[in-house]
Amino acid sequence: MLFFLCFLLISIFSTCGNADINTSSPLSIGQTLSSPNGVYELGFFSPNNTLNKYVGVWFKNITPQVVVWVANRDKPVTKTAANLTISSNGSLILLDGKQDVIWSTGEAFTSKKCHAELLDTGNLVVTDDVSGKTLWQSFGNLGNTIGPWAKTKFSGIPGIDASYVSPFTVVQDVEKGTASFSYSQLRNYKLSYVTLTSEGKMKIL
Ligand SMILES: *[C@@H]1O[C@H](CO)[C@@H](O)[C@H](O)[C@H]1NC(C)=O
Ligand SMILES: *[C@@H]1O[C@H](CO)[C@@H](O)[C@H](O)[C@H]1NC(C)=O
Ligand SMILES: *[C@@H]1O[C@H](CO)[C@@H](O)[C@H](O)[C@H]1NC(C)=O
Ligand SMILES: *[C@@H]1O[C@H](CO)[C@@H](O)[C@H](O)[C@H]1NC(C)=O
Repeated sequence: MLFFLCFLLISIFSTCGNADINTSSPLSIGQTLSSPNGVYELGFFSPNNTLNKYVGVWFKNITPQVVVWVANRDKPVTKTAANLTISSNGSLILLDGKQDVIWSTGEAFTSKKCHAELLDTGNLVVTDDVSGKTLWQSFGNLGNTIGPWAKTKFSGIPGIDASYVSPFTVVQDVEKGTASFSYSQLRNYKLSYVTLTSEGKMKIL
């Protein structure tokens, strides 16, 4: 009976869905937010070797879990309770049980009303409800580092010589001072990703 009650309580509190995060509807430990296409999921996770919790985006329904983005990489949640929410200044913030800020996107916006949502691309965005403008996005805040790029390939990587056909492309707009980096999928499905391993190897999986 006790077990059943616990199960019921866990079921009630571990709601999963694709509702948005806003000031009145935060994301708590145990809850997740899905992208509408069901490919990505946002929530709290603990890496294998620790009880610390991190807010991340991973591929839904894939085991072992592949985390593709981490919010609070250097500021883990060490307590049992935390909420990811929108602060009154429009920034996305991670609060502990004492309502202390563990992590935030750091920017303040004049927006009075905004929400965070996980897009089909896996991009976590904060959108102004009035103007519809994107105020902040996880795609603009990547976690790992990419090597120097030499026209068609990365330089300094063993095995990448003149004959190497790179699946990577960098398009630069010198006037604007911007560049975009992309790669062609080697396999014909959505769950492909590029990762930089702890040994410094860039892999397409
Ligand atoms: C916050 O999100 C919830 C769930 O998506 C929604 O029902 C509610 O109306 C939203 N509240 C505000 C203030 O936008
Ligand atoms: C976590 O453990 C599982 C099962 O042992 C393993 O397959 C997975 O690679 C580990 N994940 C990380 C990030 O080390
Ligand atoms: C998280 O938000 C929920 C709903 O607003 C609230 O009941 C809960 O106390 C909050 N938890 C923390 C750790 O702030
Ligand atoms: C926005 O509000 C949060 C929480 O109140 C605060 O921690 C953060 O410093 C504020 N950001 C700015 C840029 O003022």
